Amino acid sequence: MITVNFSSKVDTEKISQVLTEISKDPMGGWFELPKRVDMAEFARIKEAAKKINDESEYLVCIGIGGSYLGHRALIEALRPRSDTKIIYAGNSLSKRELDHELKRLGDHDFSINVISKSGTTLEPAIAFTEFKKKLIEKYGEEGAYSRIYATTDANKGTLHDEAVANNYTRFVVPDNVGGRYSVLTAVGLLPLAVGGVDIDKLLEGAAEAVDQVIEPASQYAWMRFTLGQRNYDTEVFASFEPSTMYFNEWLKQLFGESEGKNQKGIFPASVIYSTDLHSLGQFMQDGRRNLFETIINFPTDEMNQKVVSAVVKAHTAGNIPVLSIGVSSFDEKGFGELIYFFELSCAISAKLQGVNPFDQPGVEAYKAELKQLL
Ligand code: PA5
Repeated sequence: MITVNFSSKVDTEKISQVLTEISKDPMGGWFELPKRVDMAEFARIKEAAKKINDESEYLVCIGIGGSYLGHRALIEALRPRSDTKIIYAGNSLSKRELDHELKRLGDHDFSINVISKSGTTLEPAIAFTEFKKKLIEKYGEEGAYSRIYATTDANKGTLHDEAVANNYTRFVVPDNVGGRYSVLTAVGLLPLAVGGVDIDKLLEGAAEAVDQVIEPASQYAWMRFTLGQRNYDTEVFASFEPSTMYFNEWLKQLFGESEGKNQKGIFPASVIYSTDLHSLGQFMQDGRRNLFETIINFPTDEMNQKVVSAVVKAHTAGNIPVLSIGVSSFDEKGFGELIYFFELSCAISAKLQGVNPFDQPGVEAYKAELKQLL
C-alpha cells in the first residue's frame, strides 16, 4: 500500500480526463498490464530462467535505458540469492568497460539475454557482437545460439531478424509498452527471475497497485504539477537505503525521458542519505531554492527512521517542499506497488504539463547523430 504525506487540491475532472487519455493511448499497454499477465508467456519466462540457472554461472544482460535500468534496480535493491550472477553490458560504448566485463566472465559458463525493443540501438548491438563471439568460441555455433535469449519486437528489427534466423529463444516487448514502462514485461521479468527475484510477488504487488494507487498517484502528480508552475524546476528523489541507488536511476530515466520535452519538465535528480547529507545535503539545506524533495520512505529500522525525521524537519525549515511517499514493504511486493505507482504518477504528470509521456525524440536525435559519425 502506497501512502503520501501531503494532499493537494486535485482537479478531479482534469485527472479523470488524463486517466482516460492514458488508458486509450496506443502506448498505454502498461496501464492494466499487471492485471492482464499473459500466463503462457509468464510460464515460458520461468522455464527459460530455470534453464539459465541450471547451465550458467553468469547471465550477461545486454541493454540500455528502459531495457536495463528497471531490472538492475530491483536486483541491486533486493539482493536476492541466485547461483547465476548478472553482468550488465551494452549500456555504454566504453571499450574499457567491455573488456573488463569480458575478462570477468573468464572461462565461466554463461548465457546472454540481449534486450532491445527497437533492435537497432548501437551500444547493445556492439556489446552483443562481442559477447556472442565469446559464446561461439566457447560452445560452437549451435551451443551458443541455444544460450541466447533475445527480448525484442515481435515482428521487426535487426535483432528480431537475427533471432529468427538463428533460432534464439525469443521474448516480446509488447508494441504498446515503451522501454521505460517495460520492467514488468519479459524485459525485466526474465533477468529478475534468473537473479532470484520472486516475480510472482512482484506482479502481485503491481496488480494490487492498479486499483489502489490512482488516488495517491493523482495527489503526487498534481503536487508536482503545481510546484512546477511555481518555478520549482528540480525534483530530488531521496532514499535512505543505499541499495536503492539504481532505483533512483530508474526513476530519473522514467521522469526525465517522459517529461523533458518541448522545453518543459521537472529535472529529476537523486540522493542517497545519509551519505549525501555530507555532500549534496549542504545544497539541499541552504542552496538555491528551485528544488523540491521527494522522499521514498521504505520501512526501516528505528535509527534510520530518526534520520528521515531529522531530514524532513531540517529541510522543511530550510524552505524546501518535502513530499514523502510511504512504501509498505522492502520486498518484491512493495517494489511492485512502487513501480506501478511511479509509472502512473509520471504519465499523469507529463500529461498535466501537456507533453507526451511515451515518446523520446531527444534520445532518437542523439542516436541519429551517432550513426552518422560511425
Ligand atoms: O524508455 C525508452 O524508450 C528508452 O530508454 C529505451 O529503452 C532505450 O533507448 C533503449 O532502446 P531499445 O530497447 O530500443 O534498444
